[in-house]
Amino acid sequence: MRVFVTRPIPRPALQILHDGDLQVTLRPHESPIPRAELLAGVAQADGLLCMLTDQVDAEVLDAGPLQVVSNVAVGVDNIDLEAASARGVPVTNTPGALTDATADMTLALLLAVARRVPEGDAMVRRGAFNGWGPMMMLGADLAGRTLGIVGPGRIGAAVAKRARAFGLEILVAARSDHPEVGPRTSIDDLLSRSDFVSLHCPLTEETHHLLNARRLDLMKSSAYLINTARGPVVDEAALVERLRSGGIAGAALDVYEQEPTVHPGLLEFDNVVLAPHSGSATHRTRNAMAAMAARDLVSVSQGLEPQHRVN
Ligand code: DGY
Repeated sequence: MRVFVTRPIPRPALQILHDGDLQVTLRPHESPIPRAELLAGVAQADGLLCMLTDQVDAEVLDAGPLQVVSNVAVGVDNIDLEAASARGVPVTNTPGALTDATADMTLALLLAVARRVPEGDAMVRRGAFNGWGPMMMLGADLAGRTLGIVGPGRIGAAVAKRARAFGLEILVAARSDHPEVGPRTSIDDLLSRSDFVSLHCPLTEETHHLLNARRLDLMKSSAYLINTARGPVVDEAALVERLRSGGIAGAALDVYEQEPTVHPGLLEFDNVVLAPHSGSATHRTRNAMAAMAARDLVSVSQGLEPQHRVN
């Protein structure tokens, strides 16, 4: 089987492909692959090992003899699953591999915005720290407050576990009950009761702009929004409006509607913490994600069902 890899991946994952006797074409550039290059790469490939930055649609699926698409991400919103299924092409992802890293990042962002960590860092660096002050850099407490988790799947549950250690009470919004994570309520009720709202749902047609202007208006003016899921779950323009009007206390974002472009309005606020989609960016996690994707490609090359098939 010939495999096209759209970006450099950790060496152990490449080794898995080589050990599986796959013929690997690795695009050596760290940047997202241009469309024409993706189509050309797929034209010569039976398997595609792709990134969440690669749009794999019907045109890509038809560009070559693909038998499998293995995404180095748990989110598969960059892949047209219906088109893949219609062509009998299995699509795989990396569930579980990034749960802890992403949950850690969620808490890091929550704490950073609540306790104004980047603001304090900037203050010290510009020489504006003139000593301790009773009214200086005051932020929000966590203990006794409510964290609303939208999408209590693996990552949402891991966030809840960590949040409890900080004394946060948990509420969840989901299609079904998750008593092990927290009591379930409607998304609107969760938004109006939470002091922190953290998004952990996949991006689908249903969740696109789930946090629209109407729902953002339901949030308390003292509440914070944390998004480590996918940017388009939030209407970014509406979020900027709420921040401008003081409709919410702050936001901490790892993902954006038009990545890598960030809504310029978000750059205006001190009470917004911005991260570069790095929720899963630890050495161990990225190794594990790439290895999972590679193993599933090897399975398909051996005529086996890939372990992490999503379609
Ligand atoms: C994923 O796997 O979907 C994450 O966004 C990667 O960081």
